[in-house]
Amino acid sequence: MSHDGVTPAPHTDATLRAAMASELPAGMLAHIDRVVAVADELARRHGLDVPLARLMAQGHDLVRAVPPADLLARAEGRGLTIDPVERDAPVLLHGPIGALELRERFGVTNPRVFDAIWHHTWGHPDYTPEAWAMFIADKVEPNKARKWKALRTVHRIALEQSLEAAALRYLDARLKEAVREGFTVHPQATLTRNHLLRRLGSGNT
Ligand SMILES: [Fe+2]
Ligand SMILES: [Fe+2]
Repeated sequence: MSHDGVTPAPHTDATLRAAMASELPAGMLAHIDRVVAVADELARRHGLDVPLARLMAQGHDLVRAVPPADLLARAEGRGLTIDPVERDAPVLLHGPIGALELRERFGVTNPRVFDAIWHHTWGHPDYTPEAWAMFIADKVEPNKARKWKALRTVHRIALEQSLEAAALRYLDARLKEAVREGFTVHPQATLTRNHLLRRLGSGNT
């Protein structure tokens, strides 16, 4: 299909879903479908670009089911800077690798989609509202929210207050969990949380 006779038409979430489906396990495809639905809900609620939020959600977990050693090898092969926390848990590399492979193998060239997917595990200070809608949808989709009450609160804040306030609540919950359980904290989680705290006026500086 072409829209100007030369270059292929940009993907919609539906065409990307069709293109990705054969390489994803059914469970991952079902997770992505739930994330697209919640991203749609949040984008509508806040008057955002709904097709953009849906496309970000559709692409976000392209390589989430790839084995950790394979993700690490792909990151090393590309010469990516790998944080020690990522080396211990290579699943954290699925955002960057997914963003790169969506561009290379599926022709998803929109830089806003690229950045949103690259950073979708911890968010980013430069995130667009649509990226926040996708980010929160990924964290609070019904199967996850059923298992952790804090996520239902994050979803409610996203609907009733703001996407950024919801993202801060999510990162706070994960930080508390990390302290409680003795987990490491990815530096990007701290950068994003600091940004949101200062932006929302609740930082201590
Ligand atoms: Fe993911
Ligand atoms: Fe996800």
